[in-house]
Amino acid sequence: MRLKYGMVGGGAGSFIGGAHRRSINLDGEAVLVAGSFSRDYENTLATGRELGIAEDRLYKSYAGMAKAEAQREDGIDFVVVVTPNHTHYAICKAFLEAGIHVSCDKPLAVNTGQAFELERLAREKDLLFLVTYTYAGHVTAKYAADLIKSGQIGQVRTVMAEYPQGWLADVDSGGGKQGEWRRDPAQSGNTNCLGDLGTHVENIVATMTGLKIKRVLAKMDVVVPGRVLDDNDFVMVEYEGGATGLYWTSQIAIGHDNSLRVRVYGDEGTILWFQEEPEKITVIRKDGSLTEQHRGYPAITPGAAAYSRLPSGHPEGWFEAMANLYASFIKCVKAKKEGTFSRGMIDFPTVEDGAEGIRFVEACLESSRNGNVWVEY
Ligand SMILES: NC(=O)c1ccc[n+]([C@@H]2O[C@H](COP(=O)([O-])OP(=O)(O)OC[C@H]3O[C@@H](n4cnc5c(N)ncnc54)[C@H](O)[C@@H]3O)[C@@H](O)[C@H]2O)c1
Repeated sequence: MRLKYGMVGGGAGSFIGGAHRRSINLDGEAVLVAGSFSRDYENTLATGRELGIAEDRLYKSYAGMAKAEAQREDGIDFVVVVTPNHTHYAICKAFLEAGIHVSCDKPLAVNTGQAFELERLAREKDLLFLVTYTYAGHVTAKYAADLIKSGQIGQVRTVMAEYPQGWLADVDSGGGKQGEWRRDPAQSGNTNCLGDLGTHVENIVATMTGLKIKRVLAKMDVVVPGRVLDDNDFVMVEYEGGATGLYWTSQIAIGHDNSLRVRVYGDEGTILWFQEEPEKITVIRKDGSLTEQHRGYPAITPGAAAYSRLPSGHPEGWFEAMANLYASFIKCVKAKKEGTFSRGMIDFPTVEDGAEGIRFVEACLESSRNGNVWVEY
């Protein structure tokens, strides 16, 4: 049984909507049947026609779409929300209230009030909610989590994680419409760089290590003159249990594209993971031995290996990571329909994880505004 889904955002000229569609298509377990792809109805119509969607399911507004799809016999099973950050809350809320499962891109919302409300609504309505922290879907990220959980590097002592980019390094580097809305507080919220990249860092570290943040100290800087929102951030983290972390996110780091790197140091060893080279992971042990393990080999734990689609040496990457999130989400939505769902089946970032990202951002904003002080969670 193929599921039916709809999309809000992702019109012609946008970035991530098309990537979601391609990722979902990798497994062919869901088909796109409805959309409100843009605020501009002409764009929605053109995008929908291009994608072969029936005209009566191309909607002028997300609100109309939620209402109409909920009433149809053959209505969508889930919606994919791929609009700029400030719209996530209202759009997700409309679909949850209509009783429709939701997938929303990160960051989940622009403040914790919104994030916790979405969390509450999803729980109350008993609906599934995927937040597409893409990197959490990599086989090697899942493997890293398994290694850490099973004590392979001992007790985690400290984490170094960074996500530098260089695309907004100059006054002149506009970054197109994607750069424009990210720098605009009305569309991005109170943060640009930390909200965009820091939420990825917070999530991937939490996914790999299971560590819970206790307090943060942040320095969020506006480096390029004329900007209002941060474009370079440092965050010191203290986790429950005493381990520490240091996160760096940047959009002014010339030479970096999507250089998300995580280094986890335990009392028995170290794990190095780099999202631009997601086919491998490095484990260093106390005795000095260094092992580079590759996706597709028997060493990879079965739970992580189950997400591989290709043998080793045929590189999998970003699309596959996104598809892996959908593989689990779609399996869960199907199980919900069939009455066989249990929470243990969830292997994707949820609305609770999305809300953790917003909690992190808000604590960092408070810290930075108050002169880089420690802020308790
Ligand atoms: N998971 C990731 O790695 C990743 C990567 C890039 C972007 N994102 C997230 O994806 C989201 C979208 O980013 P993008 O770069 O694709 O932006 P974009 O500007 O390229 O696209 C946004 C789309 O949303 C549409 N839109 C805006 N408001 C709408 C509304 N009310 N109804 C219908 N459509 C509407 C726009 O017309 C456009 O088609 C952001 O939240 C961003 O943070 C996530």
